[in-house]
Amino acid sequence: MKHSPDGAFTRRRFLKSSAAAALLGTLAPVASRASPAGVIKKTIPSTGERLSVIGLGTSRTFDVAPGDAAESPLVDVMQAFFDRGGQLIDSSPMYGNAEAVTGVLLGKVANKQDLFTATKVWTNGRRAGIEQMQASMRHFGVERIDLMQIHNLRDWRTHIETLREWKAAGKIRYIGITTSHGRYHDDLELLLQELPLDFVQFSYNIADRAVEQDLLPLAAERGIATLINRPYQRGSLFRKTSGKPLPEWAAEIDCASWGQFFLKFIAAHPAVTCIIPATSKVKHLVDNMGAGFGRLPDEAMRRRMIAHLESI
Ligand SMILES: NC(=O)c1ccc[n+]([C@@H]2O[C@H](COP(=O)([O-])OP(=O)(O)OC[C@H]3O[C@@H](n4cnc5c(N)ncnc54)[C@H](OP(=O)(O)O)[C@@H]3O)[C@@H](O)[C@H]2O)c1
Repeated sequence: MKHSPDGAFTRRRFLKSSAAAALLGTLAPVASRASPAGVIKKTIPSTGERLSVIGLGTSRTFDVAPGDAAESPLVDVMQAFFDRGGQLIDSSPMYGNAEAVTGVLLGKVANKQDLFTATKVWTNGRRAGIEQMQASMRHFGVERIDLMQIHNLRDWRTHIETLREWKAAGKIRYIGITTSHGRYHDDLELLLQELPLDFVQFSYNIADRAVEQDLLPLAAERGIATLINRPYQRGSLFRKTSGKPLPEWAAEIDCASWGQFFLKFIAAHPAVTCIIPATSKVKHLVDNMGAGFGRLPDEAMRRRMIAHLESI
């Protein structure tokens, strides 16, 4: 009944892996410095590259004073992310100090050889866009950004030309575009048909499934990878489940928390490439990374998950 789309993995291997500790929400250090076995990965259609299904968002959570970041609990958040097989970190110049803080934290942690940097251009005009992207590289401390996205479609006609040039020059590896607002979905649909995109980012979660109708199938058809933002509806999903026990059958898909229930629902969609929950807490980071291991729900189980949430 249950399957692990795009990430072959057996329960026996899962239970033996160091990641079982992550699933159980413990903070025990991971013994191996390499990525743990059994991380669920998805394929980026335009290249075939494999990417861990759970990434990390930075909006609000990483917007602290860069000078304080190096001594903050965010260092442990970043270390735990890489130790549990995390790769993609998503930021934006729109998120205050988040890019600079990401760079500070990257300078403090080990085991980050599989880092996949994703950020955005969020301004008007060619020159301003170039300067902003150069600043992002300086903030991250890298000479090449893996994924550069046009934030909320802003001035996309201008930036798409720069991004094509930068990709050809090897300054970025992938081109993307983002939104988190339903009102942009019609525009985004047109752009997915016309632009040379490797990635598209939008909101999708167990309570907001509008993109199942249009953007997810279209991305799959066009061979465009998807990044999923607001997987917890900015945290509001937890208000609904607060004080409520997980159903016993959640163990059938290796869920040990509501967070993993919400993330595994998304991860199982065949058109989803990577989910980017944001957190400022190590405990929550460990919880979130646990969703990137073990079994994922099949379609019948996903419908059961929706029905259960709607009934409580
Ligand atoms: N247009 C765009 O391009 C766009 C728009 C929106 C978002 N994004 C990207 O998507 C990322 C994710 O979206 P988001 O930050 O808006 O919302 P989100 O990831 O749905 O929710 C974040 C909230 O959930 C809480 N949380 C995280 N893990 C938890 C856990 N295991 N248990 C309980 N609470 C947990 C966090 O609080 P704690 O700190 O207490 O853990 C935080 O308040 C953003 O950070 C950003 O990188 C992009």
